Amino acid sequence: MGEKIKMNNVNVLRNTKIEINLEKCTKCGACIAECPLRLYYFREDVLFIRRSSEMLCMECGHCVAVCPVNVINLQRFPTEEIKVISKDDKVPTYNELVDLIKFRRSVRQFKKEPVSDDLWKKLIEAGRFAPTGHNDQLIHYTVVRDPALLDKISEEITKNFVNLAEIYKNPSRRDEFNSLVPKKYLKIAKIALIGLKDMLKGIARGEEFWRWNGELLILHAPKKTTSLEQDCSLAAGNIMLAATILGLGTCSLGLMTAAFTIFDSVANLINLPKKHVVGYALAVGIPKVKYYRTPPRQTAKVSWF
Ligand SMILES: Cc1cc2nc3c(=O)[nH]c(=O)nc-3n(C[C@H](O)[C@H](O)[C@H](O)COP(=O)(O)O)c2cc1C
Repeated sequence: MGEKIKMNNVNVLRNTKIEINLEKCTKCGACIAECPLRLYYFREDVLFIRRSSEMLCMECGHCVAVCPVNVINLQRFPTEEIKVISKDDKVPTYNELVDLIKFRRSVRQFKKEPVSDDLWKKLIEAGRFAPTGHNDQLIHYTVVRDPALLDKISEEITKNFVNLAEIYKNPSRRDEFNSLVPKKYLKIAKIALIGLKDMLKGIARGEEFWRWNGELLILHAPKKTTSLEQDCSLAAGNIMLAATILGLGTCSLGLMTAAFTIFDSVANLINLPKKHVVGYALAVGIPKVKYYRTPPRQTAKVSWF
């Protein structure tokens, strides 16, 4: 239903989430057709909001985006940042976009220079507009730039993997190993353990393998998030492409993601909230390496029906 009230002498339809200026509404029905939960309806030529919208509306903002006369507001969100899409706004061509996708690399050699505040903010902006399951928008971005903390995180991960290797080596401690490592990280943890001996030699020579000496972006969200890993991965995907355009390099860090989940002492270094799960980790930095061509890729495995 929504409540019909007068605000500044204007007839307004509203509930706790939505507010509509009825005087400017042209009754075009665009919001009715667009709402995925069908929360708007006409009755006798008057626009109404279903009572269930107080619960069901996921504030996706499609009604705001699709309204030709801009009469719908979502109360929880500031209106100032809404961008009007004009005919002059350019989007990349297909070829430009696919080249960007193809030219992105997992960068594992970074300069010592830090990433600027401005570039960090631009990366996060690219992540913020990725879609999220049920429009949850619950991702928290933790940026680690402090060189001392970055080193501490790497050291703590090494220390924990060395301990885990000791547990793994001892068949009588297999239950302990299995209780420490969630099933989904078993494969990656075992890969780390197999490579650990050589990694330790590299670390002794001053190399760094967990984050390739990059700064860190850790995407995490409350456990209750509808599609936690998908949300974090999609945001990370946007960020990786934005980084490529901005002249930055990124590397997905599956091992680091596992480490934040398996080892409390690593999670504690970034004050990871107790009810949060890390969905993605990225190394970020200024690339020290230049790529001359795209790497080979398998052809796509596709089923057409
Ligand atoms: C989910 C995920 C986890 C990854 N984890 C790591 C990692 O821990 N360390 C690393 O160096 N690279 C990691 N990578 C990078 C992959 O090795 C890389 O994407 C792949 O070799 C293809 O290279 P490209 O990204 O340059 O196209 C990861 C990639 C993904 C998508």
